[in-house]
Amino acid sequence: MESRAQWGTRAGFIFAAVGSAVGLGNIWRFPAVAYENGGGAFFIPYLFALLTAGIPLLIMEFTIGQKYRGSAPLSYARMNKKYEWLGWWQVAISFVISTYYAVIIAWAMTYAYFSFDLKWGDDPTSFLVGEYLQVANPGEFGGIVPGVFIPLVIVWIITLGVLFKGIKKGIEAANRILIPVLLLLFIFVVIRAVTLDGAAAGLDAFFTPDWSQIANPTVWVAAYGQIFFSLSIGFAIMVTYASYLPKKTDITNNAFITGFANSGVELLAGIGVFAALGFMASQSGVNVSEVVEGGVGLAFMVFPQIISEIPALNGIFGAFFFLCLMLAGLTSLISIVETFVAGLVDKFKISRNKAVVFGGGFSALISIIFATRGGLNFLDAADYFINQFGVALAGLVQVVIVAWVLRELPSLQKHANSMSDIQLGGWWKVCLGIITPIVLGYMMIQNIVTNIRENYGDYPTNFLIWSGWAVAVLAIIAGFVLMALKWNKGTELDVPENKEVSQ
Ligand code: ALA
Repeated sequence: MESRAQWGTRAGFIFAAVGSAVGLGNIWRFPAVAYENGGGAFFIPYLFALLTAGIPLLIMEFTIGQKYRGSAPLSYARMNKKYEWLGWWQVAISFVISTYYAVIIAWAMTYAYFSFDLKWGDDPTSFLVGEYLQVANPGEFGGIVPGVFIPLVIVWIITLGVLFKGIKKGIEAANRILIPVLLLLFIFVVIRAVTLDGAAAGLDAFFTPDWSQIANPTVWVAAYGQIFFSLSIGFAIMVTYASYLPKKTDITNNAFITGFANSGVELLAGIGVFAALGFMASQSGVNVSEVVEGGVGLAFMVFPQIISEIPALNGIFGAFFFLCLMLAGLTSLISIVETFVAGLVDKFKISRNKAVVFGGGFSALISIIFATRGGLNFLDAADYFINQFGVALAGLVQVVIVAWVLRELPSLQKHANSMSDIQLGGWWKVCLGIITPIVLGYMMIQNIVTNIRENYGDYPTNFLIWSGWAVAVLAIIAGFVLMALKWNKGTELDVPENKEVSQ
């Protein structure tokens, strides 16, 4: 009999899953990706990817985790021993994401504090790259930035502290408190944003599709990458979280609640951000498209500007906005790190605390790279490549293997239907087995060609090879290397009878 920790209640699991999904992806990444991919034009591929791939994949990952009751590597090994690498590849992607994700939370923490006296002054862009991050040339490290390093240490102390306490007393308890607080703050921020002058012009830019961008494969892969990142699918998280569900539980309904809650927040974030952009454009008397700079600094360049310009209570508005980012980020970072904590516990049968120290500690050490003066460039490249050729690619490979190689969809469908209120019909298999592989597969190939021909973000080729391509390729190699290591004798590779324990 194998004992596995379990969520205390169904609501506890939903809080944790929503906490994982709602993250920096919704608030920090989404507006930047939407802007770089044609603004309103991004909306169509985004919705398509959400409905045909995002939600169906979320259901699939919940079902795999709940059925095979293991971290991603263990769940895939139990599905078929040959595909353990897929789980480790996804865990490795999570590992990479955790290293820079923590740093953005550290920026948000600092900016929440800066908001009170609008420390960024009249030119937030120069402040961010100059005074705060002291950005060096691409490829250079240039020493640690204390203003990033110190909050980064705090972020890691909180994250690992929660993980030490386990599933129920740690992750579930933290999310039960942090998610309601986040939602309250967030609603305040969005209401303030949409009541600013000029908000309508921003919303217009957000909701008006630019059809000329619809045929661009880069835009499509960006949309899939964004959906996967935002829903926490394709990088081991939801499989891991679902592995702590009880033997009998609703799967499909939980997935719909999680998926729609996440997209609701993302949509609200889009509305809030674009309304604020409309305000900013109207202040300067220009078009919305002219007020934005691309790149990962968007939330830390444009928002400070907006915060400075709003007529009253701007310090509070700013602090709330960055606190939202911080809370959303923390609840997601916890889930990202849990993927490799769970993988280490399952594979090597070490204690949870040891896995947190070694896994989390290693990620914390690597994250210092992004707290150096060269950190912003490394972060931009790692984020772009690990999403396009990590998360989106791993999601694609995952559906192809599950649907076509192992032909597992019918048995997963049966499993989910046997315990869920909402019954999965043929649409689910069509989305996963046909639409997603064809659309995402085609777009992925085109996108690889585009990225080989043109350098992302005008960075030098050498820099992109080492900070982008190599990171994505190393994650795949890590998958095979970790698979080659032996399982501890105590781990059952057959689906076990579960003895319920709570932690
Ligand atoms: N799903 C998490 C986010 O959106 C990783 O940031």
